[in-house]
Amino acid sequence: MSRTIQREIAGNDWRVWPEEVRRAGWSKLFGLPPDAPMRLHVDIGFGDGAFLTELARRDPGRSVVGIELSFKRVLKVAQRLSRSDLHNVRLLGVDAAWAVREAFRDESVESFWINFPDPWPKRCHQRRRLVEPGLVREISRRLVTGGSLHIATDAPDYAEAIRSTLDADPLLEIVQAPTGHLGERRELPPTRFQREWAAQGRPCVFFHCRRAKTIAASRMGHAQRVAS
Ligand SMILES: C[S@@+](CC[C@H](N)C(=O)[O-])C[C@H]1O[C@@H](n2cnc3c(N)ncnc32)[C@H](O)[C@@H]1O
Repeated sequence: MSRTIQREIAGNDWRVWPEEVRRAGWSKLFGLPPDAPMRLHVDIGFGDGAFLTELARRDPGRSVVGIELSFKRVLKVAQRLSRSDLHNVRLLGVDAAWAVREAFRDESVESFWINFPDPWPKRCHQRRRLVEPGLVREISRRLVTGGSLHIATDAPDYAEAIRSTLDADPLLEIVQAPTGHLGERRELPPTRFQREWAAQGRPCVFFHCRRAKTIAASRMGHAQRVAS
């Protein structure tokens, strides 16, 4: 017998749909007046939603958007949120590459979080990895100047690839030096995967980059390099 999935949410349903995002925009979807400042934070691949919930709870002035491909995870987190008193979270159940490209304007996001993206360890599957130069370029454009991109992984060769991708992005600067990443991230709540890997004694690495330049300044730098 097939199991029926309960799709309706009793109470506040904080899921949003791609068409709504395009039509209404985030201010409206978060219930903010059109001219009110908005501080967008985005958790990509939010899994069980614990990290995103904590981000929203710690600072109610943030507008937290969760993006997750798994329909069931979106539904579960939406059901949990409907029973909470949080009003500053919205969930978008789509592919992250689409969301970053289509759902956010340039220079509009304070921070992006990508915690433990699927590592696709087999060489023949590596092209499916989420963190690749194209996505990072789109993310860096969406960040406000001074905004942050945080990425965590437990897979050493993925960490290497992430490091090179971040290094090569013209708008980003890695905050930690000289290794480019932190061995831990004390000030933030651990994610479910982080707790699992820590329990197994698997080391995790945490990247923190900052959007250092405006898009215009980066173009100017490029033009000067080409001219000289
Ligand atoms: C390894 S889990 C990590 C979950 C959570 N961030 C954590 O640290 O506990 C990776 C999550 O990313 C989601 N995911 C994978 N590819 C995605 C994509 N292209 N767009 C959005 N979510 C994706 C998966 O469904 C899964 O929930």
